[in-house]
Amino acid sequence: MEPKKLFVERINALLGEESNIFFDYTKKLLKKIIRVNLLKISRQDLIEKLKNKGWEIQNTAYRDALEIKSKLLPGQLGKALEHHLGYYYIQELASMMPPLILEPKAGEIILDCCAAPGSKTTQIAMMMKNQGTIIANDVKIDRLKALVSNLERCGVMNTIVTRMNALTICKKLAKSGFFFDKILVDAPCSGEGTIRGDSTILKMWNINMIKRLSALQKKLISSAIECLKPQGTLVYSTCTLTPEENESVIDFALKNFNVRVEKIKLPLKTRPGIVKWQGQTFNEQVKNCHRIWPQDNNTEGFFIAKLRKIR
Ligand SMILES: C[S@@+](CC[C@H](N)C(=O)[O-])C[C@H]1O[C@@H](n2cnc3c(N)ncnc32)[C@H](O)[C@@H]1O
Repeated sequence: MEPKKLFVERINALLGEESNIFFDYTKKLLKKIIRVNLLKISRQDLIEKLKNKGWEIQNTAYRDALEIKSKLLPGQLGKALEHHLGYYYIQELASMMPPLILEPKAGEIILDCCAAPGSKTTQIAMMMKNQGTIIANDVKIDRLKALVSNLERCGVMNTIVTRMNALTICKKLAKSGFFFDKILVDAPCSGEGTIRGDSTILKMWNINMIKRLSALQKKLISSAIECLKPQGTLVYSTCTLTPEENESVIDFALKNFNVRVEKIKLPLKTRPGIVKWQGQTFNEQVKNCHRIWPQDNNTEGFFIAKLRKIR
């Protein structure tokens, strides 16, 4: 499906001449990437098992992520015994970056506000070595079923699953004096970064949806900051490229809360957040946010920001 005119115009405004390369990438198939689940198997043992199946494996920029170079049948990655046993999680490389920035540690108390189907919750649990506590929340029951099944498959044991509107759970917990060391807000978004893997995104794309999502994202980040401990870390991420859902949300948080945007380093090529968009100028700190463009690493598109609550 051809992208809508307004979508093309907006990407042109963000990328200029380079937008041709972006649109070329939207037509390319995504690489087959898996994340080793260290809760169940070592990296080396998994590589050996997959090689024994005849699969060609290649390292990626992130040690726990492997690329399967062999041609596989549709669905074969998900049907493999090693997948059913929870030895790996099928996850796009860019989607593994938010937990890296969150840096979860064994023993911490972490809230994953919008957690289903659990790509990042299972990665966070793995990084915590199944110690400490994660509250994995989502509002949609069908997606929660997938989350629970992924947690079981991956041997995650440090997670409490809740089904609530994140705005409500954050408000209730903060009111009862419960605050988190770290929070991930992997927000519902227009998904512009995922059009390579999901053609329905282009069909659904419209500017009103972006405005509606931006308003929700501002509410989500606000309530998450309310239930974060002083000096706590909040990672905000989306798989979209619209400034309204990204820099504008971070700018809103900077205007309304005592937070700062911290610099981060990632194993992928990233670009700084933009400070000007359609007549608006954002706080200079949004430059510390990271934009992952599909054409830079041959991945999906992503946006990530790391906020520190000052008090
Ligand atoms: C980008 S997806 C999350 C992906 C997930 N973090 C992962 O890595 O697998 C956004 C999620 O937000 C959930 N969601 C939307 N509005 C919500 C709300 N108000 N409160 C909690 N979850 C919400 C959706 O059901 C969806 O599962």
